[in-house]
Amino acid sequence: MPEGRGPAVVHVPVLPKETLALLSPVAGGIYLDCNLGLGGHAELILERSGPDGILVGIDWDSEALAMAEKRLARFGERARLVRSNFAHAEEVLSSIAIGPVDGVLLDLGLSSLQLDGGRGFSFADAESLDMRMDDRGGETARDLVNQCSAEELADMIYHYGGERQARRIAAAIVAARAAGEIKSGRELGEIVYRAVPRRFHPKKIHAATRTFQALRIAVNREFDNLETLLSSLPRLLKPGGRVCVISFHSLEDRLVKRTFADRKKYQPLTGKPVTARELECRQNPRSRSARLRAAQFSDPGC
Ligand SMILES: C[S@@+](CC[C@H](N)C(=O)[O-])C[C@H]1O[C@@H](n2cnc3c(N)ncnc32)[C@H](O)[C@@H]1O
Repeated sequence: MPEGRGPAVVHVPVLPKETLALLSPVAGGIYLDCNLGLGGHAELILERSGPDGILVGIDWDSEALAMAEKRLARFGERARLVRSNFAHAEEVLSSIAIGPVDGVLLDLGLSSLQLDGGRGFSFADAESLDMRMDDRGGETARDLVNQCSAEELADMIYHYGGERQARRIAAAIVAARAAGEIKSGRELGEIVYRAVPRRFHPKKIHAATRTFQALRIAVNREFDNLETLLSSLPRLLKPGGRVCVISFHSLEDRLVKRTFADRKKYQPLTGKPVTARELECRQNPRSRSARLRAAQFSDPGC
């Protein structure tokens, strides 16, 4: 665990029973977890597919990968963990000589390690405004808020955050940075909070939540990566293989729904998306906005 991070970060997987029931891992099966995170779902899949099932786990965050490695060490060679963008899942499988799999899982969004980890994902973060899940390159949120034009920022905040106050927020960011670079999540959170008139503050979330979501999506190119992965599913899955996707906002969910609507390729296993029960929402607040959709890949030969 990174130093100074307080008590151990424990990632409780979202919708665990529902995901297992829909993915239905079996002994000897091969499963691809595209969002390994801290290995919560992966552990359940490995347990259920024992004694000889294989799990390929992908994550592009080195801290998450290191923690998952420890958690899954007891499964030995059955757990194959790779640092990569899941958009390159096909290359990952071929690099470890694994063909099409029996099941693919996506659990999108952030892990608790990332949200609370001093990497600028939170408006409580006084140190950083980075927001990259993969720190090997690319622009940070700090680059975007300090360099994009007001129009670019407004479009980003509106489209990726669904924020109606986007123009006002973008103008406030541009005005604030004229006095000096915006350097932390806390600074940005305060600018957004002040920019939005009180009567437009959402009731249940912080006034900056949607802006932070938008920046995170832009920094990590979340939609591009998801679209690439969804379009590669027919090459990743065996005929009859299953795919489960847990998403956390309507824009992601829409992409998944549209993919599964192709009945030549997919047989949906969920009508409406599965959501967490009251008890899980109380025990694991991250599950509140989770939506799980699943489908079975049709045998193109049938
Ligand atoms: C919500 S967490 C997954 C939690 C995991 N299911 C568990 O139970 O511990 C999402 C993870 O996906 C990773 N991730 C997000 N987008 C990714 C991408 N394009 N490629 C690889 N990993 C990605 C993040 O770094 C994060 O660790």
